[in-house]
Amino acid sequence: MPTPIIIDTDPGQDDAVALLLALASPAELEVVAITTVAGNVPLELTTRNSLMMVELAGRTDVPVYAGCDQPMVRPLVTAEFVHGKSGIDGSNLPNPTTQPADGHAVDYLLQAIRQRPGMTLCTLGPLTNVGTALQREPGIAEDIEKIVLMGGGFFEGGNTTPAAEFNIYEDPQAADLVFRSGIPLVMMPLDVTHQALTSDARIQAFRDLGNAAGAATAGMLEFYERYDMERYGTLGGPLHDPTVIAYLLEPEMFGGRHCSVEIETTSELTMGMTVVDWWDLTEADPNCLVVNQIDDQGFYTLLTDRIGRLP
Ligand code: RIB
Ligand code: CA
Repeated sequence: MPTPIIIDTDPGQDDAVALLLALASPAELEVVAITTVAGNVPLELTTRNSLMMVELAGRTDVPVYAGCDQPMVRPLVTAEFVHGKSGIDGSNLPNPTTQPADGHAVDYLLQAIRQRPGMTLCTLGPLTNVGTALQREPGIAEDIEKIVLMGGGFFEGGNTTPAAEFNIYEDPQAADLVFRSGIPLVMMPLDVTHQALTSDARIQAFRDLGNAAGAATAGMLEFYERYDMERYGTLGGPLHDPTVIAYLLEPEMFGGRHCSVEIETTSELTMGMTVVDWWDLTEADPNCLVVNQIDDQGFYTLLTDRIGRLP
């Protein structure tokens, strides 16, 4: 039976590729719904971009619910300098023809999780929607199978401040609620996503698929990779969010360690830092599988194969 998942996302080119990967894998993943959150770009655009991916994948059976338009406490910080004004620059796609589903994503999450205990949440952006749902009804934690999230960093430090990665930095209060919830967590931090770099050959493989999804993926990644290559001198751009979906499809491609992870929510210097007790110095109970190993070639082979299955 396919694993039932809800994807919470802020597309962003890397989110968009993660959505395509999930929507191209119906035998393994039942994408029950997509919920959108403000992050890389404002909510109206993350919602628009999600609708565009659902249409590109030919999966308009999957509802898209718009969620929180700003973090729980702190002001919204967006990242157009990475993703472009639209959030998915390079996709070269028309505006969506479909509309978001009625209702707020947080209301949907609470109702869907209560109605169908045992689902997996895949979070690809700030944790505002999930944190808000947990604040309103802490008890839903028992009905969530696990959360696989892209966020945080440890040995790799941060990408928004020296200490913090964007998704956690954007809404540390929401992240703190999630990491304290007791829900089984799998964290894909920068330590693993920085190993999953694009390259000319890997982007060309998407273009060589000859389908619309492959062309859009190649165009998005060509735009997306330039920021990290220029800023950090890397050989490509880190494909952060699709690691979350790939973990569900082929967990054996990944490795990590169960650790205690806490979120900095007070010091401005380290706000949003994921404090990973990698050496078990606090002897606190582990609350998270921290992933730091990936078969990056296997990851791109999986991605290319699955996106090749789309229209
Ligand atoms: O720091 C990387 C994360 O922030 C990714 O999820 C990217 O899409 C942005 O949301
Ligand atoms: Ca994201």
